[in-house]
Amino acid sequence: MVISIANQKGGVAKTTTAINVAAGLALAGYKVLLIDADPQTNVTQVFIHPQVEIQLDQSLYNVLVNFAPLSPIIRATTVRNLDFVPSHIRLSGVDLELAQAFDNRSARLRQALQPIQNRYDYIIIDNPPSLGLLTINSLVASQGLIIPVSTAFFALTGLVQLQETITMVQQHQLNPTLSILGVVCTFTEATNVSRDVEGQLRQHFEGLVFETTIPKNVALEEAHSNHTHVFEHAPTSKGAEAYKALIQEVLNRP
Ligand SMILES: Nc1ncnc2c1ncn2[C@@H]1O[C@H](COP(=O)(O)OP(=O)(O)O)[C@@H](O)[C@H]1O
Ligand SMILES: [Mg+2]
Repeated sequence: MVISIANQKGGVAKTTTAINVAAGLALAGYKVLLIDADPQTNVTQVFIHPQVEIQLDQSLYNVLVNFAPLSPIIRATTVRNLDFVPSHIRLSGVDLELAQAFDNRSARLRQALQPIQNRYDYIIIDNPPSLGLLTINSLVASQGLIIPVSTAFFALTGLVQLQETITMVQQHQLNPTLSILGVVCTFTEATNVSRDVEGQLRQHFEGLVFETTIPKNVALEEAHSNHTHVFEHAPTSKGAEAYKALIQEVLNRP
């Protein structure tokens, strides 16, 4: 199953969710591929040694722009069962470069995944904070969508945008088979603001919101800077417990 982690807002824990859901599934024994589709290359920076530089032709850029096969650029990680596909800062130009392409510019990632899809139980895609062609390519390639939403501050505009994203994908026939696995509340804490936002989300999106919430927890941030996931960095932390519960919910969703 291909799952996109997307929200056009930055700083809502897309990357953190992508890394830890992918790692958690891999630890549970599933074969997982994590794709970094964000030009900010955050996933890539976590899994690549700081001194190693990813060449353009070893990145997702070459696949999306030059129709290069995905297989040769897949890398192993230190996590058993977890492979990843690196991003490159030049991915930021993909919107412009593909704008002039006529052939299937929204379905390039889906095409690239076809030959390798059978090798994995789950393919998790981390996305940029935008609704450009990179995110569109991911959504077209996916069967499921997880939308992290931060409850750290109240933003009704975020809710409206989010609803627009969901409607766009469902109504524009980009990918009629895409199902929204759920909205996950992130950065939750025992404040009125956090509780209010969570309440609003549950009221607005009803059963679409995962029961599990991801609390503000420094272990999640520390794991990134230690080039790993939270289950290795702090297996008993609140963050690790929360992502474990989220994965269980994802596995239980029909
Ligand atoms: N639950 C959390 N508690 C504390 N820090 C978090 C949590 N989730 C993410 N972070 C940190 O917040 C920042 C933004 O998260 P990130 O996953 O990069 O968001 P996005 O990919 O949506 O921009 C990062 O520095 C990350 O380490
Ligand atoms: Mg990110």
